[in-house]
Amino acid sequence: MLPLVLLTHPLPAEWLQSLEGRVRLIVGPEGTTGFPEALLKDLPEAEGLLTLLIDRVDGALLERAPRLRVVSNMAVGVDNIDLRACQERGIAVGNTPGVLTEATADLTLALILSAARRLPEAAADARAGRWKTWSPTGWLGMDLNGATLGIVGMGKIGQAVARRAAAFGMRLLYTSPHARPEVEEALGAQRVPLEQLLEASDVVSLHCPLTPQTRGLINEAALRRMKPRALLVNVARGPVVVTEALVRALQEGWIGGAALDVTDPEPLPPDHPLYQFPNCLIAPHIGSATWGTRRRMAEMACANLLAGLEGRPLPYAVQGTNL
Ligand code: GLV
Repeated sequence: MLPLVLLTHPLPAEWLQSLEGRVRLIVGPEGTTGFPEALLKDLPEAEGLLTLLIDRVDGALLERAPRLRVVSNMAVGVDNIDLRACQERGIAVGNTPGVLTEATADLTLALILSAARRLPEAAADARAGRWKTWSPTGWLGMDLNGATLGIVGMGKIGQAVARRAAAFGMRLLYTSPHARPEVEEALGAQRVPLEQLLEASDVVSLHCPLTPQTRGLINEAALRRMKPRALLVNVARGPVVVTEALVRALQEGWIGGAALDVTDPEPLPPDHPLYQFPNCLIAPHIGSATWGTRRRMAEMACANLLAGLEGRPLPYAVQGTNL
């Protein structure tokens, strides 16, 4: 009998080719958020889970899955998984690091450029007939050349953003639990305390994982430290920013604008106050959303899953980052 695997949400069949003939797959419904109710009845038999970042895998869920041997998350972030609960039960956890670095860094630059040059506002005005003439003072934005970018979290994605930003002539500051001499030498990036980064940066870009230490890191005090024209960019995880504080910051003009690929909550309901600000650009968590990247993420997730089912070390095992 082939091992039973629950894939929480549908994926294109060609991304899952390596699973053919090796597992029995039950696929959850399309368009839902969170671990699908419809799959709960299958948990007692499941030996593997192939999850997305929207699925919460906690101790209560694991209690219902006594045969589970591997949780393979098709994401680099694993804040949706209780790693300690998995470790206690001997369940291997895998993720998809590295493969989405370039796509996510590309999107970060797209957000920085769009927010700096007020592209969503300008495009909306053109479409709505508000482009009456070439205006010497219309839609003015920020010069990136010579501006300071503060990168919070200098991991793989932070470094890929730093390389791109340096090519745009930006000066680089960063915070990170570890010094990154290679980025300092190659790009002139300077490691500073968070307070200093917030005070000195024209753009603050978040690239840290969501952990107990980073949850709520960008709170009212942090936002008040930023320059009045500075932009906040979040492609990390929504809860790194305190949403209510960001709403106030935009309402009261503490900062110049925000560009968010992740929000708290997620998805952000259509009537959420953040949508009311023309200087707040919101994308629906699309950092890794390119055909090639998503396919490679699925293939890595399948490789992790098969290794876990076969009792081999996972090729991309999570190293207890949020234990
Ligand atoms: C995307 O947010 C990921 O963690 O893969």
